Amino acid sequence: MRKTIIICFSAVLLLAACKDRDNAVLQKPLSISERRLSELSIKMANYLPQVAVDSNRIPRALAADGSLIAENSHQWTSGFFPGTLWLLYGYSKDAAMKNAAKQWTAFLEKEKWDGHTHDLGFKLNSSFGNAYKITNNPKYKDVVVQASKTLINRYNNKIGCIRSWDWNADVWQFPVIIDNIMNLEMLFEATAYTGDSTFYNIARQHAKTTLKNHYRPDFSCFHVVDYDTLTGEVRLKTTHQGYSDGSAWSRGQAWGLYGYTMAYGKTKDPAFLEQAKGIAQFFFNHPRLPADKIPYWDFDAPNIPNEPRDVSAAAVAACGLLELCEYNPANKTQYLAWADAILASLAKPEYQSEAPPFLLDHSTGSVPGEFEVDVPIVYADYYYVTALLRRLALAGKE
Ligand code: GLY
Repeated sequence: MRKTIIICFSAVLLLAACKDRDNAVLQKPLSISERRLSELSIKMANYLPQVAVDSNRIPRALAADGSLIAENSHQWTSGFFPGTLWLLYGYSKDAAMKNAAKQWTAFLEKEKWDGHTHDLGFKLNSSFGNAYKITNNPKYKDVVVQASKTLINRYNNKIGCIRSWDWNADVWQFPVIIDNIMNLEMLFEATAYTGDSTFYNIARQHAKTTLKNHYRPDFSCFHVVDYDTLTGEVRLKTTHQGYSDGSAWSRGQAWGLYGYTMAYGKTKDPAFLEQAKGIAQFFFNHPRLPADKIPYWDFDAPNIPNEPRDVSAAAVAACGLLELCEYNPANKTQYLAWADAILASLAKPEYQSEAPPFLLDHSTGSVPGEFEVDVPIVYADYYYVTALLRRLALAGKE
């Protein structure tokens, strides 16, 4: 009897000690997230457009000489700056931030009619989609729904995918890039907003086709898969932004991790969950992933460790992990540890940007294209803020 009491008492003490340790482990990333979000909110609120010119001056990146690379609403990255402001407004409830978010967002509305791009989710779900989720104003939702109607015109039923690019038509017939998985989030949400399952069905089929044709047995993926428009068969598996056709371009791996986790969350299709788990293992157990968990721009880049990093890939991957851990209790501790390692690295001065309006340095747009290499880029900031908010929300549930 005495022995049983001692064993029970020891078990209770052990459980309490584990809980304390868990809380301590949790506290650090939480305080980092909260502190960073407050600092970022202060930094961003006063970055306002100058209305006469700013439809062409939406922040995108810093050039190597430190000058601002800005763009019009047509470019694929136009939604990230307004989106970051909306996310920070959702956190801070600061009226100045809302004012800035509204002003920058207004420039993008016309893109909802542009049927020549697959990037409508990047542009309009990041901006108008977040505006709707945060303000509940139906005017913003209507833009997302119209953008979704425009986007599904690019779906080919025989191929089972939404077409990515219209250019380079003498080489490609129907190119689909892994990045396109990110635009499905808007379509799933359009079905939730309208009750029309067309958007959901197309998004789900695109994710299935991409899983079948973009992925290799080790869960890494090709960047571009080109399809024959007559037969629906795969013509080419290639790259545009990676080191080589057979390499693992880091942001593409991160798009896939975020994308299949999101697609599982929306559909509960177990194949998507298995895919996301496999991609996470590929990315985070990779022998060439640096100890601070910020990848080089391509896992197979030839001169590692003397290659640029891609902070944007790390931020996108952290977002994926912070959703995936909710669907996979068995691996939750591991996924959280990886995501927290990324957030801890990104909070260090070496990864922070002091150049307004950017938050993070050391992202890489395209090494083969020789643009935006090892500089601040706006989509890294957007997914960084998303990851910080996800980390806080997750802690709130524990
Ligand atoms: N979607 C383009 C890129 O990731 O660079």
